[in-house]
Amino acid sequence: MHDADRLTALAAAAAAQVEDGMTVGLGSGSTAEAFVYALGARVRDGLTVQAIPTSRRTEQVAREAGIPLTTLSDSQQVDFGVDGADEIDPALNLTKGRGGALLHEKLVAEACARWVVVAASEKLVDRLGSRISLPVEVIPFGWETTQARVEALGFSAPLRVARDGVPIVTDGMHFVLDCATGPIADPTALGNAIKCITGVVEHGLFIDLAAAALICDPDGTIRELTR
Ligand code: A5P
Repeated sequence: MHDADRLTALAAAAAAQVEDGMTVGLGSGSTAEAFVYALGARVRDGLTVQAIPTSRRTEQVAREAGIPLTTLSDSQQVDFGVDGADEIDPALNLTKGRGGALLHEKLVAEACARWVVVAASEKLVDRLGSRISLPVEVIPFGWETTQARVEALGFSAPLRVARDGVPIVTDGMHFVLDCATGPIADPTALGNAIKCITGVVEHGLFIDLAAAALICDPDGTIRELTR
């Protein structure tokens, strides 16, 4: 099955879990966007929901899809959330943030009563850090000193830049370091070590947050993994 069809199938399976009256967290990235369109279709069929987008891009897509929006400030009890991931380990711990939205994604994920990750099976890994570098969002002020302290943990952490060399700025007006950790033996310990560095805002390790993962295999089969 083509990749786009796999995303559509995943999105439909996730949207089917949304119930009338729910406040729904909307993740960011291509898989989450497919979910937003699927949810929009259900809204057009009469489903009543309000949703909280985790990035400006997702907000734009949700508006196009006709989904009524709210904010985390106005709706702090979030019933259900759906987001993509860059890596998923057997305990359903994740790395996220390749798209740079990890801070708002994590704030919404932590507010959700039930938060589900949707991904193609290629995102499944034995150990986080094996497939991508770990994104870490940092304050621009003196970011070089923050980078040095992150790198003192034992890996390189280059600044994420655009093709012209200009730093990528997140929706929260921060920079991103992409940490070449390699396979991570203890994600909780590494996350805690990174988070206590002054200048770090948040890291892309999502530990104990996903209640379930909807996984689409290459042939289009959808499996639900739970913790
Ligand atoms: C956005 O910042 C990320 O956390 C995405 O959720 C993650 O990179 C997955 O994106 P795709 O669904 O586009 O692979």
